[in-house]
Amino acid sequence: MKKLILTGLLVAGVSFAADGRAIFQSKGCASCHQVAVDTVGPSLKKIAQAYGSVDELVKYLKRQAQPKVWPEKAAIMSAQLAMIKNLSDAELKALAEFILSHK
Ligand code: HEC
Repeated sequence: MKKLILTGLLVAGVSFAADGRAIFQSKGCASCHQVAVDTVGPSLKKIAQAYGSVDELVKYLKRQAQPKVWPEKAAIMSAQLAMIKNLSDAELKALAEFILSHK
């Protein structure tokens, strides 16, 4: 019984913390963004270093701020922003927090 409760708590804790990561995976962001190496898109580390705050990154994700990492390739990313336009503010915040956790 104790074990069951503990497992339940662990699962709840992990899924809460993994929210932004889950969105990142399920929206296909991972196919162009690796943690530490630049591939099709800049690495999460590079993006995290360019953004000072979650709010600032959320603005970009909502198309309310100009890109600043690789602006010359913004067209590729623009199509991806269209895919997340229906996410709630809480989901976008979790996504931004996940990206910024790679500083
Ligand atoms: C088809 C490849 C591709 C996919 C899929 C992709 N990206 Fe990107 N992303 C790029 C490229 C290329 C850039 C560089 C353009 C730029 O910096 O404006 C970029 C840049 C970014 C930036 C930095 C923007 C800036 O300030 O310059 C963020 C943040 C970002 N992507 C988040 C995401 C998220 C979140 C997802 C999933 C919803 C995603 N990307 C999916 C290719 C992709």
